[in-house]
Amino acid sequence: MVHVLAAVAWPYANGPRHIGHVSGFGVPADVYARYQRMAGNDVLMVSGTDEHGTPILVQAERDGVSPQELADRYNRVIVEDLQGLGLSYDLFTRTTTRNHYAVAQELFKTVHRNGYLVTKTAMGAISPSTGRTLPDRYIEGTCPICGYDAARGDQCDNCGNQLDAIELRNPRSRINGETPVFVETEHFFLDLPALADTLGSWLQTRTGWRPNVLKFALNLLDDVRPRAMTRDIDWGIPVPLPGWEDNPNKRLYVWFDAVIGYLSASIEWARRSGDPDAWRAWWCDPAARSSYFMGKDNITFHAQIWPAELLGYAGRGARGGTPGPYGVLNLPTEVVSSEFLTMEGRKFSSSRSVVIYVRDVLERYGADALRYFISVAGPETQDTDFTWSEFVRRNNDELVGTWGNLVNRTASMIAKNFGAIPAAHELTDADHELLRRSRESFGPVGEHLGNHRLKQAISEGLRVAADANQYLSQQAPWKESDIQRKGTILHVAAQVVADCNRLLAPFLPHSAQRIHETLGGTGSFTDQPEIREVADLDGGPGYPVITGDYSAETTWASRPVVPGTPVRTPSPVFAKLAPSVVDEELARLA
Ligand code: MF3
Ligand code: ZN
Repeated sequence: MVHVLAAVAWPYANGPRHIGHVSGFGVPADVYARYQRMAGNDVLMVSGTDEHGTPILVQAERDGVSPQELADRYNRVIVEDLQGLGLSYDLFTRTTTRNHYAVAQELFKTVHRNGYLVTKTAMGAISPSTGRTLPDRYIEGTCPICGYDAARGDQCDNCGNQLDAIELRNPRSRINGETPVFVETEHFFLDLPALADTLGSWLQTRTGWRPNVLKFALNLLDDVRPRAMTRDIDWGIPVPLPGWEDNPNKRLYVWFDAVIGYLSASIEWARRSGDPDAWRAWWCDPAARSSYFMGKDNITFHAQIWPAELLGYAGRGARGGTPGPYGVLNLPTEVVSSEFLTMEGRKFSSSRSVVIYVRDVLERYGADALRYFISVAGPETQDTDFTWSEFVRRNNDELVGTWGNLVNRTASMIAKNFGAIPAAHELTDADHELLRRSRESFGPVGEHLGNHRLKQAISEGLRVAADANQYLSQQAPWKESDIQRKGTILHVAAQVVADCNRLLAPFLPHSAQRIHETLGGTGSFTDQPEIREVADLDGGPGYPVITGDYSAETTWASRPVVPGTPVRTPSPVFAKLAPSVVDEELARLA
């Protein structure tokens, strides 16, 4: 039994999430967490909404509400969507809790005390028309490195390099198009050069990462500079040092805020569990594992900035130092980054309505149809296009045609002929062969899942179902006049359905529970997350969290079906989609 931390990227609470977001972090993380639990490991899956910073401020201004009101509104929307998708967070919280403020400030103070946060005067942009500071990511211009003409002031999405706004050629405000003016401003910088050696040695020891992610992370070491960890902004966590604390216009940057949420959410979870130190099993024991899930625009965060902060906190850089009260915290075991999803050949864009929101897919097609598509055709290792025709095709041919069909015909024939799972009599070679095939699939499918190869894992699970369909066609139990032989064939089929249902449960947890019941199973086979309204632990306002009890006793191995278990005529678990769905959905896109 291993402690496994599933650390899932924190979505901004500035709008509803679309399927591009959840295909990058939510679904891959949940499939992994569910598999690890089935394999007997002790999983802690945490995340929350990222509620500070410019993205929230800008949207709040557009909507004419306060940033807190905006964050409250979308925190709730996102909580409902992610719960509806069945993402089994132990705790999905938010960055505006008092617990999170305290943990982020504690990290800041210790990293500062250890000498890895240093003040520097930098040039900050202001908007000449309003006199207000213009955050880096709201400045656009030509990338000084690759020449891309829509680079942002914080990073270039074309070459992936981190930038300072002042380096952009032809800078302009993305809010109103005007040319920003740069003025001097003082900030705290994380001294990455002083941490680069330790960071580099750690990265060199990483194995099993997707090659492009590791390559990207190693490349970052070629350009290590101090990075600003504070911002001129009035919405966020105050800088916890004398002279700064009371300044309403200096706040921690997202790099020293949301990314610390993995730790603060683990601590919050432990405090709520009644054992306030329980988080340490995932963070302080070097034998624990941690996997971080995100889209590729977040690799810098997780493969450089966050590890550097952890090293600074432990005093493990060129300036030495000693750990703060949390002790020496584990660095990420692996950074699991997805590529980008596009929508019918275009970039997702809410403003141009090239988008499909999680909520709409859940309402129209259900959680497992989306989870299936993301798992089998998501942007796992390369940029991937989502098309409605492919969504409908895969749903109808694979989910309904292969898996749903196997479940349906097996359960219907058992219900009609026996009313209960029949006993097996003498087994033929074909029977043995299929039973062995499905029993032995747990090894390779589990290995794919442990290595984040969702496509290979789910395809292998589906292939077992396809083989079982072929077996049924060949054995033709409907033509069989020998009742014992008929029973044996259907027993074998029921066993393979039960096996496949386990193999596919991490991907399709909602239908797995229904299929379990179709085969006469009782009790909880897969567990679902729930939304709970909680009080802030330290006196702040209450909020909704996603949490759950995920202790269902489903194991990652074949378990014999029990003859005599009653089976009733099934109602179909998966729904075939009409071809007209494609045109309807395309008409909704601008
Ligand atoms: N909300 C930020 C983003 O979407 C950060 C997400 S991951 C975090 O880019 F862990 F760093 F918060
Ligand atoms: Zn560039």
